[in-house]
Amino acid sequence: MKDAIVPSSIDPAPAASTALPQDKELVLRVIPMPADVNANGDIFGGWVMAQVDLAGSVIPARHMGGRFATVAVNQFLFKQPVKVGDLLSFYGSIVRIGNTSITVQVEVWAERQRPHYQCVKVTEATLTYVAIDEQGRPRPVPRPAPT
Ligand SMILES: CC(C)(COP(=O)(O)OP(=O)(O)OC[C@H]1O[C@@H](n2cnc3c(N)ncnc32)[C@H](O)[C@@H]1OP(=O)(O)O)[C@@H](O)C(=O)NCCC(=O)NCCS
Repeated sequence: MKDAIVPSSIDPAPAASTALPQDKELVLRVIPMPADVNANGDIFGGWVMAQVDLAGSVIPARHMGGRFATVAVNQFLFKQPVKVGDLLSFYGSIVRIGNTSITVQVEVWAERQRPHYQCVKVTEATLTYVAIDEQGRPRPVPRPAPT
């Protein structure tokens, strides 16, 4: 089959979403600044990772009933570059509640205005947080009392 011919007058912009997720919990919003860029002029991945760790920690902060720590970044995918001025929204959801840990999935969406308004999923990650006692040892995640 022959390749389709796209007239040069048509801007073949990639299919772009203009809606943020409605079915996930918003846990953080932040706008990256010029101080956060890498050598390519995009946002430094380490900055994004720090924000994802903070965003993911919002869910265990509600469930752990005390101190907790990040034990693992199980998966981290930079799907698209992040640009200065993007409005980033971080969505968190629980993947697993274990004996002493909670594993959380975080999706990061960018709203950008140029060249046209669009919402782009830029990053997704899975992280595990462990409830710890005053000595820094794992302790059980509190369970809700039976009703
Ligand atoms: C968090 C910490 C107290 C856990 O201690 P530990 O002796 O490794 O604990 P355990 O082996 O008993 O594992 C505790 C939980 O973590 C989970 N876990 C441990 N390693 C994991 C890994 N690589 N991936 C996913 N989960 C992991 C275990 O499955 C367990 O969860 P569960 O009880 O719900 O099944 C210890 O590793 C620590 O202090 N790490 C440093 C944390 C820190 O400073 N984080 C900030 C980033 S620098």
